[in-house]
Amino acid sequence: MAAPKPLSPRFAVPLAIALLLALGLVADFLWSSSSSSGTSGRGQLASASRTATAKKSGRARGKKPAAEGYLNATYADIPAPRWDWEEMPAAPVPRLDGYSVQIGDLLYVFAGYENLDHVHSHVDVYNFTSNTWTGRFDMPKEMANSHLGIVTDGRYIYALTGQFGPQCRSPINRNFVVDTVTKEWHELPPLAVPRYAPATQLWRGRLHVMGGGKEDRHEPGLEHWSLAVKDGKALENEWRTEIPIPRGGPHRACIVANDKLFVIGGQEGDFMAKPGSPIFKCVRRHEVVYGDVYMLDDGNKWKQLSPMPKPNSHIECAWVIVNNSVIIVGGTTEKHPITKKMILVGEVFRFDLDTLTWSVIGRMPFRIKTALAGYWDGWLYFTSGQRDRGPDNPAPKKVVGCTWRTKLHL
Ligand SMILES: *[C@@H]1O[C@H](CO)[C@@H](O)[C@H](O)[C@H]1NC(C)=O
Ligand SMILES: *[C@@H]1O[C@H](CO)[C@@H](O)[C@H](O)[C@H]1NC(C)=O
Ligand SMILES: *[C@@H]1O[C@H](CO)[C@@H](O)[C@H](O)[C@H]1NC(C)=O
Repeated sequence: MAAPKPLSPRFAVPLAIALLLALGLVADFLWSSSSSSGTSGRGQLASASRTATAKKSGRARGKKPAAEGYLNATYADIPAPRWDWEEMPAAPVPRLDGYSVQIGDLLYVFAGYENLDHVHSHVDVYNFTSNTWTGRFDMPKEMANSHLGIVTDGRYIYALTGQFGPQCRSPINRNFVVDTVTKEWHELPPLAVPRYAPATQLWRGRLHVMGGGKEDRHEPGLEHWSLAVKDGKALENEWRTEIPIPRGGPHRACIVANDKLFVIGGQEGDFMAKPGSPIFKCVRRHEVVYGDVYMLDDGNKWKQLSPMPKPNSHIECAWVIVNNSVIIVGGTTEKHPITKKMILVGEVFRFDLDTLTWSVIGRMPFRIKTALAGYWDGWLYFTSGQRDRGPDNPAPKKVVGCTWRTKLHL
């Protein structure tokens, strides 16, 4: 082919606009809409279209003006007090599906996607006293880059299984531990099979890993394993099989408080690799988000407690414990009944560990999923994740690294 002639501006400008629009649509599609096998789940379409015809918003967007902007109460924001939030220094990189643990006044922020084609392989550290990002260290190159299980004992951070690489690549069953004092990494015995974003905690001297997505990234796993650990070392060579969790799937909050193990929210189903795609291109599949809460107190029988005020997922590192309450920020709820777009959550939830009941205590500055939360000296913090398109549009848009805080009064 001969060297291309430069396009005349008469064609170049409309062409560029068309390309940009196409790119925007593709990106939009990847992150927030439904492509295949996305049936509507629980018979929600009929009443949803009624509410859509009665929509108030006059905003028109392309061919589907009716669907956006107005949501009935099941999908809409729950009324909550507006809080004053203060913007703090943003993380060095934007992150979706990042993972974090807090040790003292430091928040260790692991891995995550910068975008669908690029994942991080390092840890950024935020200091809540100086309110600066003060450190960065590498993760082992063999470690998973998203969908981890993560937990700390106050010095060692255990980072288990997860997805290796970008898009919707395969999970690995390898498990790692880092000593935050020496920054030395070691490997722990592998799981029998890998998982995506399993619920993970340290409880009574054992690492517990349960649920998550199975090897195909979509089918919920129910299996539950544990391993005795101390000071970053495994005390056993193999994981022990434990009582399976009643409902499986990834992206749940997993918390130990008052010597009890809690598993909160989550989803069944997730994006999957397109069959045959050399880059494991993500395609969306049917998902069910739920607000179920399960508790293990004797190690042998799961008890089901009151559910969250709305179905909520992508909250594995979006919680803190303050004054015997679990505080959870943001997440994702059930998809929009018409556009099928993912809907982000902007509420702050409180689960009182005395009464085992939920309340909605405040609103975030915007809706966001996979936010990474911390609490220090009266301040509730969150950093990073994927935020909404704006106050009237809860569909996901930008992957961010921004950090915010608010004074917490319970
Ligand atoms: C909203 O729509 C859902 C799904 O169709 C329905 O179950 C629910 O009752 C509706 N809520 C309100 C407040 O209309
Ligand atoms: C965090 O920053 C403060 C103020 O600079 C410092 O005194 C403190 O030691 C830092 N925390 C850690 C764990 O290094
Ligand atoms: C936690 O409880 C203490 C003692 O009652 C109180 O002083 C403090 O303000 C509470 N913290 C929050 C964040 O509400």
